[in-house]
Amino acid sequence: MNDDAIHHFAIETFDLTRRFEKMVAVDHIDLRISYGEVFGLLGANGAGKSTVIKMLTTLLTPSSGSADVGGFDIIKTPDEVRRSIGYVSQLLSADGALTGYENLRLSAKLYGLSKSDRIYRIADALSFMGLTDYAHKLVKNYSGGMIRRLELAQAMLHRPAILFLDEPTIGLDPVARHMVWDRLLTLRHDYGMTILITTHDMEEAETLCDNLAIMHSGKISIVGNPAKLRAGLGENASMDDVFAYFAGGSIHESGAFREVEQTRHTARRLG
Ligand SMILES: Nc1ncnc2c1ncn2[C@@H]1O[C@H](COP(=O)(O)OP(=O)(O)OP(=O)(O)O)[C@@H](O)[C@H]1O
Ligand SMILES: [Mg+2]
Repeated sequence: MNDDAIHHFAIETFDLTRRFEKMVAVDHIDLRISYGEVFGLLGANGAGKSTVIKMLTTLLTPSSGSADVGGFDIIKTPDEVRRSIGYVSQLLSADGALTGYENLRLSAKLYGLSKSDRIYRIADALSFMGLTDYAHKLVKNYSGGMIRRLELAQAMLHRPAILFLDEPTIGLDPVARHMVWDRLLTLRHDYGMTILITTHDMEEAETLCDNLAIMHSGKISIVGNPAKLRAGLGENASMDDVFAYFAGGSIHESGAFREVEQTRHTARRLG
């Protein structure tokens, strides 16, 4: 077998599990994400999405199981994993007391870019994210959309093979949101980056993602292409329906969803 055959997936998890005390936040999940894919991780609040991302970015140790990211084992070779990835956390992480440029310079140093690379890559990232004119303004005066774009610029400086974005467009207006989508798709197109995002925005999931996994209580309920997931649920099913069906709590588990559906059908027939 050659290397390509061994490291077929950008991300592969094996029974990946994380407990907090007795609570199982991520419960034996097996995910496979191909190189160059935009992959969405969906699920209700507390489903375990951020915990998955924190393990895959080596910020949190799994309780059991393992994963390969960019062909590297997250437990045995965390340094190699860190060099292969960029990460934008769920909470805003840019430093408001610094300028955009200064934030980027910190990231560039963190990623070990040489001085000559640093200057070029920072200018490039600022221009790519439409922030050149604001580079020397304090980040505390940036809008939410500008901060998110700056964070994306920080995460892509070292041209990582894989980007992890935890709710990248939360709180952004529609124009800012579309700009982030456009930039992400360009990163995928120009550099072949693999992008794993979490989102509660079903339009974002459908527009951006080649494939989705929906989590429920730490487990993966379903994986698939957004259009196929909708089609699987019925002719007129929306992504909201897909989410409600696979991320829903007791409704789905108890089978009550079916009953509700049947009641509706019956009601329609009767009405
Ligand atoms: N450090 C921690 N200590 C204890 N419990 C934690 C910790 N981090 C997460 N949890 C718990 O693990 C579960 C999964 O949390 P996680 O943040 O992964 O969910 P999420 O899917 O990202 O939710 P959201 O959509 O709200 O961001 C939750 O019940 C959460 O309270
Ligand atoms: Mg989260």
